[in-house]
Amino acid sequence: MKNKTKNDKLDPKFKHFMLQEIYAQPQAAMEAVTHYLSPENQEKAIAGIALDEKHLRELERVVILASGTSRHAGMVGEFMIERLARLPVDVDFASQYCYRDPLAEPNGLAVLLSQSGTTADTLLALYEAKAKGARTIAICNVEDAPLAREADGVLYTHAGKEIAVAATKSFTAQLTALFALGVHLGHTRRTLTTHETREHLDSLMQLPEKIEAALGCGELTHKCAVSMKDATSFLFLGRDISYPIALEGALKLKETSYIHAEGMPTGEMKHGPNAMVDERMPVVMLLTRNAMDAGSNLRWEKSMVLLEQVAARGVHVNAVACMEDAEAVAKHAAMVFAVPSAPALLLPVLEIIPLQLLAYHIAVLRGVNVDKPRNLSKSVTVE
Ligand code: AGP
Repeated sequence: MKNKTKNDKLDPKFKHFMLQEIYAQPQAAMEAVTHYLSPENQEKAIAGIALDEKHLRELERVVILASGTSRHAGMVGEFMIERLARLPVDVDFASQYCYRDPLAEPNGLAVLLSQSGTTADTLLALYEAKAKGARTIAICNVEDAPLAREADGVLYTHAGKEIAVAATKSFTAQLTALFALGVHLGHTRRTLTTHETREHLDSLMQLPEKIEAALGCGELTHKCAVSMKDATSFLFLGRDISYPIALEGALKLKETSYIHAEGMPTGEMKHGPNAMVDERMPVVMLLTRNAMDAGSNLRWEKSMVLLEQVAARGVHVNAVACMEDAEAVAKHAAMVFAVPSAPALLLPVLEIIPLQLLAYHIAVLRGVNVDKPRNLSKSVTVE
């Protein structure tokens, strides 16, 4: 995969690379899906994963190592791989893993996630995982980057060159790759039937169109940004697989707007954070669900109870919900960013879109140089 030159140029339709890259996500997802799925490869999930099937069948554990936004993608991947391939998965900060003398991993797979493939912490984690005997696979956006070269296998994310410091399209591309990896592992390890594998791959193929529909909330996120831009602290809440998206929404806001923000699991509110939330602290709740999935429905119902309670105290809650639920959620939420419904494991890809847009608009309204926020660089090559 060559990162195409056209990604280096700012289209006059957009004011910043970050916005251009947010809107490039349907195309980036399409690129990834096309690479992973060829018509002849309908049952294998991923073309060219470069790890032998015997080893994948004997795997006992997966560890996902990454930094920043890539680690949040890895946290979503933990749910995907555990549910699709029934394998225990741990996710660690690359910067922590390389110093904690981890246990030997003779039947382990270490997945190293990095947009740039040059992050020093993630490279050190790769060397540590190898030293402990794990097989390694890099999920990387830049062809032939050090991480891609040194891992046993590589899965490129095909998002094209990303220029803005804040990762957006590379994040959704990582989620796409992790889902494909989960399906591949599930198929190889026979935790998924051929029929289930096909269904998951069909859902993957529908993803670009759904991302396009999720981008429809652009104007509303701008309106929300206008009313929220002076807040000094935000709380993002997500349950289950949406929790890493709450973390990522908070990180996007912190790095682009310099506003304090935290991401929390929705179910933890009553264990402490509820005390600090008042009308001065806007809350963003992730409330998507797949109505065909009992677990997803149950989680949604529980989160709706919390929404009602928090909103009744006068807290300003904005929500991301599926289009079918927008009306019900709007009874309590100030604004609802509506996204299409999807299988539960793919909803995070849609949930992050309004949060990226919200962070972008708030940053621009506050006068931040959004493509190059202070004190940060695109590639962190020193520890
Ligand atoms: C993302 O918006 C951040 N700029 C940062 O957290 C980044 O994800 C992290 O430094 C890891 O980078 P990588 O994916 O290139 O390894």
